[in-house]
Amino acid sequence: MKLTYYGHSSFLVDAGKILLFDPYISSNDLAKHIDVKEIATDYILISHGHIDHIEDCEKIAKKNKATVICGYEVSEWLCNKGVESTHSMNHGGKWSFDFGTVKSVSAVHSSAMPDGKYGGNPMGFIIRSDEKNFYYSGDTALTMDMQLIPRWSKLDFAVLCIGDNYTMGYEDAIEAAKMIECKTLVGVHYDTFEYIKIKHKNAIDAFAKAGLTLLLPAIGETLDV
Ligand code: NI
Ligand code: MN
Repeated sequence: MKLTYYGHSSFLVDAGKILLFDPYISSNDLAKHIDVKEIATDYILISHGHIDHIEDCEKIAKKNKATVICGYEVSEWLCNKGVESTHSMNHGGKWSFDFGTVKSVSAVHSSAMPDGKYGGNPMGFIIRSDEKNFYYSGDTALTMDMQLIPRWSKLDFAVLCIGDNYTMGYEDAIEAAKMIECKTLVGVHYDTFEYIKIKHKNAIDAFAKAGLTLLLPAIGETLDV
């Protein structure tokens, strides 16, 4: 399965249909070489309302006529901005789409929309498809709830926040990887801001020591996962 990284927590997965997660590109100084106008997608999945996850959602959704999968309050906010197709979810719920099944799972974080409106619950997603199953943590602390994830789905890979300060750091992400029983991890939510800069080698080595593979693709790079 192909995964393209667009910086911060933005990435795109080809699951038969194209899924774009948490697009925050226009204001990311590290992603200046990515042209938002050139990103084509069928769906956009939004973990929560913070600007560093939703910034480019409206623009990309309208241009691509993409369906946005997100929490109820985020969906209402996007609809009020004229986004035509959304699918709202909340923790514990699942829905079958034409690319596979999405389950909304809890994330321990906060969520307000960029204009201060209530953003509902922040969430992570598990995606089950014919080809591969994966988990995206969204912004979250390490939480015991993660132990439930492998009971629902055997994962091929997971995308975890690792930047610390606002979310779990890589040490906790290693514990998360053990709980979700997944050995191939893609790190996100690091380096973008001063407080979340990490030493890549230290993170990769710490995962390796635990028998895990941490992938840190360059911004714009496509991986086979
Ligand atoms: Ni956040
Ligand atoms: Mn964030």
